[in-house]
Amino acid sequence: MFLTDEEKRMRDGAEGDAVAAAMDLLLRYGYALDAERLCDIRNVAGTMTQPTPVKAKIVAESGWDKAFAVINLDSDADLASIPQMRVPTCQLQHGFGPDSVDIVPYPKANVELQNDAESYYGRHGVNILATCTPYQVGNLPLRGEHCAWMESSAVIYANSVLGARTNCEGIASTGAASLTGKIPCWGNHLDRNRYGTHLISVEGLKVESFQDWGMLGYFAGGVSGEDHPVITGDFGQPDLTELKHFGAAAATSGGVELYHIPGITPEAATVEAAFGGAPVPEKVVYGPAERRAIYETLNEIGTSSDVDFILLGCPHASVDQIRQAATLLDGKRLASGTELWIMAPRALKVMADRSGYTEVIEKAGGKVLADSCPAMSRAAPAGTKVFATDSAKQAHYLPAILGIEAWFGTTEECVNAAISGRWNGGLD
Ligand code: F3S
Repeated sequence: MFLTDEEKRMRDGAEGDAVAAAMDLLLRYGYALDAERLCDIRNVAGTMTQPTPVKAKIVAESGWDKAFAVINLDSDADLASIPQMRVPTCQLQHGFGPDSVDIVPYPKANVELQNDAESYYGRHGVNILATCTPYQVGNLPLRGEHCAWMESSAVIYANSVLGARTNCEGIASTGAASLTGKIPCWGNHLDRNRYGTHLISVEGLKVESFQDWGMLGYFAGGVSGEDHPVITGDFGQPDLTELKHFGAAAATSGGVELYHIPGITPEAATVEAAFGGAPVPEKVVYGPAERRAIYETLNEIGTSSDVDFILLGCPHASVDQIRQAATLLDGKRLASGTELWIMAPRALKVMADRSGYTEVIEKAGGKVLADSCPAMSRAAPAGTKVFATDSAKQAHYLPAILGIEAWFGTTEECVNAAISGRWNGGLD
């Protein structure tokens, strides 16, 4: 692998043993992937503060610097100290925080460990955004900008909607990237790997609702696996919320990290451009029958119509989504024994508080919660047997994670279920 003089200096310890350990990890990673060089980056998004039993043990026995070395640099060495992050680095979603105690059944020990982690990582220059949607709260990399991001729903948004360049990184590679400003240049960083591979043609229906974008994403992930779908058809103009739902769903049913929608996403002005001039593959049709099949797949776990938990905000809700829920709940009351949680970035919850939306939701009996989600923290209201959600990603994962039944529907159907305690959803 080609290394610049600066990279050789870091590798050889000129900037301390932690930076040398970080370079060692990146070089091992780069060699394994046949990367020819490292990319310069100035944008890292990782999950550093997430509380885990392993981290708790290391911190208790050896302190936070040791925990950073083991978990964030994959190094057993006794490093002298961990320096400041070399490039802007943010914390993605993590566990629930102190304001969720007594609402979410989540261990207090985890909350305390995470509080300590926030102090440690914050002192080292990690911006505690605490959301899976950093692009909603000010972290918006530019088109062509190389980044090192984790979280599949954020990676696909960065690559596809923003035109930034990142692979789906891990805890150690983002830790090493944060201390060096480098990441192996392979995969989505390279022009030749960013073209479409599958053509999905929407026919016989118009995709324009939030629910429809999620179902189309789930279909696209199933068709494309880890490749790059190119979507054509009759669309309304999608907005941020619809594309974050589409991308999260595609990254859930498959492992999609990049897609193109000609005329909408930035690297595909035309279908031909999306495929980089290569022959356009035979189309896979997404029509009414495929739409219904996806809907039934996402609802195959639900059997009981008695719903005791409603979950909105996956990926984390926008202010407009919180406002929509407040409008639907205004003057209403949740059914006895039914809970409704809306997951949101903390920065946007502050806006929802100021706008009065949180008050309306809380008056109805719902909650706006920050930092985490039931899938991330493995926590739902005690006794939950059946939940309903407007998120294809949560409908896919939460039954397996928590052993509960799921209903998938529109935001309005979910809010109605919270008010009635019954699921009455269905496909148009
Ligand atoms: Fe975010 Fe949790 Fe969904 S981390 S993408 S709300 S599974």
